[in-house]
Amino acid sequence: MRLDKFLSETKTLTRTEASKAVKQGRITVNGTVASKPNLSVDPEKDEIAVSGRVIEYNKYRYIMLNKPEGYVSATDDKSAPFVTQLLSEELQKFELFPVGRLDKYTVGLMILTDDGQLAHRVLSPKHHAEKVYYFRCEKPLERIDELEAGVHIEGGYLTKPCKVKKLSENEAEITLTEGKYHQIKQMLYAVGNKITYLERISFADIPLDPTLERGEWRFLTENEIEKLRRI
Ligand code: URA
Repeated sequence: MRLDKFLSETKTLTRTEASKAVKQGRITVNGTVASKPNLSVDPEKDEIAVSGRVIEYNKYRYIMLNKPEGYVSATDDKSAPFVTQLLSEELQKFELFPVGRLDKYTVGLMILTDDGQLAHRVLSPKHHAEKVYYFRCEKPLERIDELEAGVHIEGGYLTKPCKVKKLSENEAEITLTEGKYHQIKQMLYAVGNKITYLERISFADIPLDPTLERGEWRFLTENEIEKLRRI
């Protein structure tokens, strides 16, 4: 990869700025001052520094966000706050988008990335990535067998088999491998009940980090990214 492309991809410098920085001798590759902006570099192996600061190369970014209530799972919205607004200014320069959707009033684990290929794979119904939600419902939770076997929701769609773990009269965890519009709300409605609180607590075997407050985010660890790649 060209040195100036590396610098612009990592959002370190624009190509024009990179040219200037090379002329000023501010860029080093493995400790040697770079002679030209089109120098060929290997981002995986070479250590590239600008004014002595080593630039990390991550082709893509992977973020865990604890989504608060009232935010829409989108990268833009005219009428409501949207999740990417919760990221740092630095991160907002990248085209990060949510991997899957949560309703405006659903809270909890949301993954954002700019790796379109990985997102596509993770979301593909073929791959059955498990999503675990904690919920509370208005009436005592009954008809669990029906929920687990599949119920008819909007458009006559029969939901896929899922797991429900009852925690008390009015609360449970549900594990889905699909994500239809308002799925859990609709499923509870189909068994004569109503969701009063919904939180995603795990996605593809990655649990929501309990140290993240609502609205806070952090980068996924290598181990967590690996779980997504293995899907
Ligand atoms: N099911 C819902 O009803 N809402 C969500 O946000 C996710 C799953």
